Amino acid sequence: MVSRGTRPNPRPASLSALPEPPTRPGNGHLQDWALAPLPLIENGARRARAAGSDVFRLRLGLPAVVGFSPAWNRRLLGDLNTFRSAGGFSAVVPYLAGGVILTDGPAHRRRRQTINPGFGRAHLEALRGRTHAALPAAPDGEFDALSWADGAVLRLLNAAYFGGEFNPRLLHAFLAPLRRPFPVPALPRPLLFLQVDAELRRLATRRLTGGGDDLLAVLAPLPGGLEETRVSLAAAHDTTTHALAYALWHLARHPQWHAPEHHAAVLKETLRLHPPGWMGSRRLSRDLEWNGVRLPRGALALYAPYLSARDPELWEGPTAFRPERWEHKPPAWAYLPFGGGERLCLGMHLAQMLILDVLSALPSLRAVRGDDTPVPGITLGPRGPLVVKSV
Ligand code: HEM
Repeated sequence: MVSRGTRPNPRPASLSALPEPPTRPGNGHLQDWALAPLPLIENGARRARAAGSDVFRLRLGLPAVVGFSPAWNRRLLGDLNTFRSAGGFSAVVPYLAGGVILTDGPAHRRRRQTINPGFGRAHLEALRGRTHAALPAAPDGEFDALSWADGAVLRLLNAAYFGGEFNPRLLHAFLAPLRRPFPVPALPRPLLFLQVDAELRRLATRRLTGGGDDLLAVLAPLPGGLEETRVSLAAAHDTTTHALAYALWHLARHPQWHAPEHHAAVLKETLRLHPPGWMGSRRLSRDLEWNGVRLPRGALALYAPYLSARDPELWEGPTAFRPERWEHKPPAWAYLPFGGGERLCLGMHLAQMLILDVLSALPSLRAVRGDDTPVPGITLGPRGPLVVKSV
């Protein structure tokens, strides 16, 4: 049994001492990880809790450890030297394999310092007129909240990043594969990326010569600014689309919450139940002793906003949609839909602004039919469709 105590152990146990979900002969957890990762990690967390541990092991072709307690989250997100991003899952997805996402300390902090201002509240407030003008009207009658959110977020991101000037068909073609099941998002797309980079250069040249106030105008003059633009767009689209689609669905099912004064709590509760960033990955740059177990250098170290936000030891009625719970502070380091620490989501304020503005502009909705089962891919989203109607 692994203890939760933090006392240093003179002889740490090896990884095999950790609890794990059932394995399949020949492939460990790989098959379940590929086909049904949520039941797999939920099972791992149950077994870990039963064993008094806050981490469990996965066999994914290389050793992996998943933790879900506030203490683990805080350590993983706070110790950027031990928990490195460069060897995590993003490295195998060309969309995300670059820019600030794959930069580790000490360069990471410098890079964030140069990029952050464009995504801070003050600059976003200046962009708001543009994004407001791009808000799409909700269709009359019945519509699928998932595909509507997809189109709405594309328009809004185009407005925020490019003043609406990026070729919409190319933007759609670029971002659509990210929503497909693995391995589609991981396939190389050199031609498409060349086209996107050419479009970025065309628009950046205009801003460098003629000025501008959109996000590209802020990013274009920075070293590596076009790569940051491309990578952050990829990080922005699915996450925001899925959060918006789930928020619409929850509002349609609980219309009593559809009022501007409740929307912030609705969004928080939506992101607690359905965090698009359901799992974050790092690689250990050195051996690490965690509660009496030696986690080896090179192992994958994962944190799971999905598990932490549904932990029955931390949340009352964890699977219920209860926006009223946000009248109180959440348990520290248990609510991480935007990650935390120095790698806190760059687009957190942007996403919140866009989603809350969309919700405020929507008429009253009712749920008609849908499948909101969370499907984990690069991000977690509803299986869909989510048919709602404007009333
Ligand atoms: C509801 C929408 C969003 C959610 C739920 C979300 C979630 C997250 C999470 C969980 C992380 C941390 C990943 C980790 O620790 O490994 C993250 C990082 C990041 N997000 Fe978001 N995100 C959202 C929207 C956006 C938007 C709109 C942008 C556009 C700028 C963006 C850009 C990024 C970037 C660049 C990082 C990497 C930051 C770093 O490593 O320093 N995200 N996001």
